[in-house]
Amino acid sequence: MTVELSAGRTTDADTMLAHRVVDRITQTSDTVTLILEPTRQAAQPFRAGQFMMLYRHGIGEIAISVSGDPARAGFLEHTIRAVGAVSRALHDTPVGGLVGVRGPFGTGWQPESAIGRDLVIVAGGVGLAPLRPLVLAVLAARGSYRRVVLITGARSPADMLFRGDQHRWAAAGLELHQTVDRPAASWTGQVGFVTEPLARLHLDPGRTSAFLCGPEPMMQFCARALLAKKVAAQDIRISLERNMQCGVARCGHCQLGPLLLCRDGPIVDYATAQPLLSVPEL
Ligand SMILES: Cc1cc2nc3c(=O)[nH]c(=O)nc-3n(C[C@H](O)[C@H](O)[C@H](O)COP(=O)(O)OP(=O)(O)OC[C@H]3O[C@@H](n4cnc5c(N)ncnc54)[C@H](O)[C@@H]3O)c2cc1C
Ligand code: FES
Repeated sequence: MTVELSAGRTTDADTMLAHRVVDRITQTSDTVTLILEPTRQAAQPFRAGQFMMLYRHGIGEIAISVSGDPARAGFLEHTIRAVGAVSRALHDTPVGGLVGVRGPFGTGWQPESAIGRDLVIVAGGVGLAPLRPLVLAVLAARGSYRRVVLITGARSPADMLFRGDQHRWAAAGLELHQTVDRPAASWTGQVGFVTEPLARLHLDPGRTSAFLCGPEPMMQFCARALLAKKVAAQDIRISLERNMQCGVARCGHCQLGPLLLCRDGPIVDYATAQPLLSVPEL
């Protein structure tokens, strides 16, 4: 099956391309970033927020967002939290090991639609991985945006992803708020949920676009806090995770009401998502 991925470029979505792990960056005790290089062909370009289906031979295939820089050609970066059999096998792949890759799939964050506006980006836990390409794209075009706020939350300081990056982004002009649920003795930052620094922000709601990724309840609480500040639901984008199998709107596993999230998501505006998420059985 051939699918159109972006203007003028198509690929066979069923074709799995072998990639070699050329580096592994330990993020936390259960999360690693793999740097993948294609073994034969050029790396597939992707948009910030898209995902790939990653396959470990003999174990299985799962959806994982791209966490690298969309402008960095030649390599793919994926940040993987080991929660089960497939994610553990991918997480444990050593340098030199092979990973199968299909994609990219899904909608992106579309930072270009927020040019000239204030951006509020909220990441919970491994949710920072799909948001990292957005942050890198926004920083590369820093003059095109007004205020850029990043709120990151983690269970503990040791669970915070991309710690070095976050400090570099703050030095590059991004307004950074870090918060943890359980502080360590050395932690001097904020304690609590990401909704707390979000609630304290003074926003210009008519000129604010928000991008949220993390556990679904976290995104819902953040979206409600933004709505209370009069940010429009269509200016809030969230990333929804459902069981992905084919990746190309064929198997129906990722259905959420009228949406197939591999095609119509994972990034969906809150005006679309809110009524669907309020139906428990969907
Ligand atoms: C579009 C999309 C993008 C994704 N991007 C990333 C990413 O960048 N990095 C990443 O680490 N994961 C990401 N995921 C989640 C990842 O696909 C799942 O963690 C993976 O499918 C789990 O498969 P498994 O076989 O390892 O575990 P399973 O055997 O399927 O699950 C093991 C246990 O973990 C629980 N579990 C499953 N998924 C999750 C989850 N997402 N969070 C917490 N617990 C879970 C299950 O309920 C079960 O209890 C993404 C998912 C989607 C749909
Ligand atoms: S994953 Fe098969 S339809 Fe979406």
